[in-house]
Amino acid sequence: MDVDALPVASLRDVTKTYGQGDACVHALKKVTLDLYPGEVIVVLGPSGSGKTTLLNVTGGIEPVTSGEVEVCGQSLANKKPEELATLRRKHVAFIFQFFNLIQTLTAAENVSLIAELTQKSAGLHERVEEALSGVGLLERAAHFPAQMSGGQQQRVAIARALVTGPDLLLCDEPTGALDLDTGRHVLALLQAAAREQGRCVVIVTHNSGIATMADRVVRFHEGSIAQVVQQEAGEARDVTW
Ligand SMILES: Nc1ncnc2c1ncn2[C@@H]1O[C@H](COP(=O)(O)OP(=O)(O)OP(=O)(O)O)[C@@H](O)[C@H]1O
Ligand SMILES: [Mg+2]
Repeated sequence: MDVDALPVASLRDVTKTYGQGDACVHALKKVTLDLYPGEVIVVLGPSGSGKTTLLNVTGGIEPVTSGEVEVCGQSLANKKPEELATLRRKHVAFIFQFFNLIQTLTAAENVSLIAELTQKSAGLHERVEEALSGVGLLERAAHFPAQMSGGQQQRVAIARALVTGPDLLLCDEPTGALDLDTGRHVLALLQAAAREQGRCVVIVTHNSGIATMADRVVRFHEGSIAQVVQQEAGEARDVTW
């Protein structure tokens, strides 16, 4: 992590409340957090503690109730949905537990889809091949998701996330559906995206074993940050489960 760098994303006193009256849920309570380039942040916390909500408000998928979110120096407040979508396309990628690949498209088509929608197509074919090669799946480029294992599908999702060159990778339980070894491989790829490409990688998980790979561990409890631990980053291969 570059301590002199500006944050990729900043949250200031962010509150998120769902529902009203008796049905009201305080999913985030005055959360303040800066996320830096090249950093791996693991977010831990029990079910319902606000982890997914944190990712959603940071990526501008959901508006905050109060407080301020900035991504790459731009405030998300008062932005129209299409402005938020443009900001996301330029700077943010999401990775989910169940990969969210389009079943009727091949690996290569899944990887190129977002980039095709958002960027100039010059050199796209090469970048898609590079991204698939980076996750060790170039020989699977023409395969459909149903022809691949869970770990392979998650690696395609990582290639898809990286091909647009995002500053911020928001990962929600990215290894939740994977076995131990496959999960380690996926974490190593995410760690490499931070170390080698300077991306900021946020990994939400229930699994405290994953914390060994993080530069920073942020522990949530009932919508608040209960603890932040800065640590000497471990290697993904040393992750214990
Ligand atoms: N769209 C929504 N409408 C109403 N309440 C919601 C909504 N999304 C989340 N919540 C509530 O906000 C709180 C935080 O939810 P969140 O999904 O962020 O938790 P989480 O830490 O990701 O949990 P898990 O580990 O189970 O995924 C929970 O009480 C949840 O029920
Ligand atoms: Mg969640």
